[in-house]
Amino acid sequence: MLPTRLRKNTAVRNLIRETQLSMNDVVYPLFIVDGQGVRREISSMKEQYHLSLDMVAAETLALKELGIRYVILFGVPDVKDSEATPAFIDTGLVQEAIRVIKKTDPDMYVITDVCLCEFKSDGHCCFFEENGEIQREKTLKTLSKTALSYARAGADMVAPSDMMDGRIGHIRETLNDAGYESIPIMAYSAKFASSFYGPFRDAANSAPAFGDRRSYQMDPANSREALKEMMLDIDEGADIVMVKPAMPYLDIIAQGKELSYLPMAAYQVSGEYAMIKNAVDADLMDRRVIFESLISIKRAGADIIITYFAKELQAMLKDYQ
Ligand code: PBG
Ligand code: ZN
Repeated sequence: MLPTRLRKNTAVRNLIRETQLSMNDVVYPLFIVDGQGVRREISSMKEQYHLSLDMVAAETLALKELGIRYVILFGVPDVKDSEATPAFIDTGLVQEAIRVIKKTDPDMYVITDVCLCEFKSDGHCCFFEENGEIQREKTLKTLSKTALSYARAGADMVAPSDMMDGRIGHIRETLNDAGYESIPIMAYSAKFASSFYGPFRDAANSAPAFGDRRSYQMDPANSREALKEMMLDIDEGADIVMVKPAMPYLDIIAQGKELSYLPMAAYQVSGEYAMIKNAVDADLMDRRVIFESLISIKRAGADIIITYFAKELQAMLKDYQ
């Protein structure tokens, strides 16, 4: 423990504190759905909402009020198809949402998740060959087409969340060829095959229709595999690497930080949120646990935290920091 003279008042405690959170650390996820006047609570995630396009402007202003400067968008269309068409059309939900947000608040920094699972009828992140192998070329092309379409709509950053080999290089090249060298890529590099994504499957309506994602997500038992994936993405031109989920994988965040000098992101996923949120609401734990979870992720090495708790951070900073 620190000597009493370093603990005796708030001023000195704040002065020596190693880790501080700020509103510049957090990114808030938004789920865009079809329809009109929709602001529907996601059944698996209390106080998180499905929003239709006409509700996005009001939400953007509310987020601004709460000090949120960064959002990451997910599209959840009613109609999905085998080609993931709603992902890359110019009139897609994400593309339109980007335009609404930028029109409402040009300072809101818009990141887009890039994956196919929310747009494909089978709920998978990639295309498959007849024999069940991943159809690499077609998957990469479709991911790149999607990323480019988000950039064209005005996204500030793209975040590929599939785990296909070669996607970062492919997307980088596609963006550069179209004149979007200035759009950074945040790669979901170390993405574990985790049960903590459970509530998100509800949010994105993207539970795989067959099999699971284990063939392209990582074994929770392996850290060296995670580091290897990060190295590959860095070689391909990732600007920021990400670890997902966050809390059960703090060691990976810390090791990743040692591995490279790139900024590190962590995704505190839906299951982590639901667990903490339900416990706090049931009075099993003090609300301070939310702050503790975020500061732990930052202390481990995350420069960026994607979290469903972003809306609560501004108030918590006042109360706890
Ligand atoms: C899409 C994607 C997922 C999440 C982020 N992007 C689902 C998955 O990987 O299965 C999880 C987010 C969360 O659980 O909050 N590929
Ligand atoms: Zn996916």
